[in-house]
Amino acid sequence: MAADDSDSNAAPPLQEGRPLQLEQVQNGLGTERLGRKFHYFFELDSTNLHARGLAERGAADGEIVIAEQQSRGRGRSGRVWVSPPYVNLYFSVVLRPKLRPQDAPQITLTAAVALAEAVDAFSPTPSVIKWPNDILIDGRKLAGILVEASSTADRVDYLILGIGINLNFPLESMPPGIRERATSLLALRRQSVNREAFLRRLIQDLDRCYGTLEDCGFGAIAPRWQSRFGLKGKRVRVEILEEVFFGTVTGIDPQGALILRGEDGKLQRVIAGDVIPSPG
Ligand code: BTN
Repeated sequence: MAADDSDSNAAPPLQEGRPLQLEQVQNGLGTERLGRKFHYFFELDSTNLHARGLAERGAADGEIVIAEQQSRGRGRSGRVWVSPPYVNLYFSVVLRPKLRPQDAPQITLTAAVALAEAVDAFSPTPSVIKWPNDILIDGRKLAGILVEASSTADRVDYLILGIGINLNFPLESMPPGIRERATSLLALRRQSVNREAFLRRLIQDLDRCYGTLEDCGFGAIAPRWQSRFGLKGKRVRVEILEEVFFGTVTGIDPQGALILRGEDGKLQRVIAGDVIPSPG
C-alpha cells in the first residue's frame, strides 16, 4: 500500500508469499450484494481501471475485482499506490447505488466506516478516519479508498470503490518516503494476518454498511463515522490543487462534505482535497 508521489526508491525485496485461497473467502460469505462474482488476477495495472471496464460492459452491483499485485496502483490526487504481491489486499467493487451524483461521496465515508471496523477486529490499537478516506493508526496510514464515479445529470450510473490495505507488508520493505508515515497490521500486531479472514470480514462489513446506506440513508451511518473522525476541532491546512487555506474542522454535512470554520469566522464546505492537521 501507501500512496506517494514517487515509487522510484529502492526497497528491500519481499519474502515470497502465497496466492489468496479465494474459496475460503467465498464459501458461506452470506452477503446480500457484495461478492456475487469475483474476478481474480495475479497482476493488473489497477483493479479500479479493470473494474471500470467491467462496469462499462454491464457488470452488476457487487462484483469484485482482486489482484495480487498492481503495476500502476492508483492513489488519490494522481499518486501511486505501491502494490507488491501476496502481502496486502488490493480490490475494487462495482457499485450501482440508488444515489444522486451529489451524494456519491457518502459511499466513500460509508466504506471508511466498514474498513475501520474490519481493521479494528484485527488491530491491537483502534483506527481513526482521516477525512475523507484514509484509515490511520497511531498517525500512520494503514489503508486508503479511491472511489471513481460515472454519473448522468440526475443519477449515479456506477461507482468503483477501490480499497488498498497494508496487511503483512513489513515496514522495512516499504519504499523510503512511505515507511515513515505508513504502517501495516503486521507491524502493529507483530504477527501476520490471515488475508482470507480479513478480506471475508471486510466484504461482510462493507455489504452491511452499503445495505444500511441504501435502505436507511447516510443518517444511519454518520454517527459511526463521526465517532472515528480524527480531525474534529482540529486546525487544518487544506490543499486543493494549487489552493491552500486554513480552518478549524467542525464536522461533516449530510452529503459528506467537510465543514471548516475559516480564519474569517465563516463556515466553508470542502468536497475534495488533502486535509493536514496544522498546529497553531
Ligand atoms: C488513497 O490515495 O488513499 C487511495 C488508495 C486506493 C488504492 C486502491 S488499491 C485497489 C484500488 N486500485 C487502485 O488502483 N487503487 C485502489
